[in-house]
Amino acid sequence: MNESITRDRTAYSEGLLPTRTRRRLIVGISGATGVVYAIRLLQLLREADVETHLVVSKPGEMTRAYETEMSMKDLRGLADVSYSIADVGAAISSGSFKTMGMVVAPCSIRTLSEIATGVTSTLLTRAADVVLKERRRLVLMVRETPLHAGHLKSMLAATENGAIIAPPVPAFYTGAQTIDDLVDHTVGRVLDLFDIDTDAVKRWGEGDGLRALGKAVRVANGFDNAAQM
Ligand SMILES: Cc1cc2nc3c(=O)[nH]c(=O)nc-3n(C[C@H](O)[C@H](O)[C@H](O)COP(=O)(O)O)c2cc1C
Repeated sequence: MNESITRDRTAYSEGLLPTRTRRRLIVGISGATGVVYAIRLLQLLREADVETHLVVSKPGEMTRAYETEMSMKDLRGLADVSYSIADVGAAISSGSFKTMGMVVAPCSIRTLSEIATGVTSTLLTRAADVVLKERRRLVLMVRETPLHAGHLKSMLAATENGAIIAPPVPAFYTGAQTIDDLVDHTVGRVLDLFDIDTDAVKRWGEGDGLRALGKAVRVANGFDNAAQM
């Protein structure tokens, strides 16, 4: 059993902890391109001391093989607990298992569609549905382009059910130099939605570089004057 869970359970049974102290987040990986988002997410969550529960769809395993050098064992090793996609009786399939919510990174159209309808066929989509019914936070990093009306309707339906659609769309105003910089910013903004702070986000109006850039652009456009710089 995972060491941290064993430690927490022991503390509960001994009455040392009135409530859970460690935050938990579920991470789902579906078969859209962009496994790197989940990898970085899991790394940042570990740094932030958030307990992670991972479930990967079969197509997600395929994209992992296409897009990374990482073995399935190593990918699963980034999480505190990892589940089989077929195990619909796992802890995360029940609302009584408390979590902050779930991120699907990346989220395929197929997975989005299951979540939008509530007709779930795997542990990944069941866990997402549970997060919604418990009114917890569900963030879907939907990745497809271009989009037809059915895709857009599914995004609307998922949003109406309480999900947050957060497509992995890069921001260029941060002065990113590498793909890693772009990925970090995107993933950091997703973690913002859970109020999980990391150093991954370069925030507009904060830090020397971005504050100066913001000021310079405002001055150039006549929204501000140089005297205030
Ligand atoms: C290399 C590769 C990239 C893919 N990229 C996407 C994508 O960006 N978006 C998407 O919706 N499906 C994509 N697919 C197709 C999905 O993997 C496929 O629809 C699958 O059934 C999704 O199942 P899942 O949602 O259970 O993971 C891709 C497939 C492969 C092999």
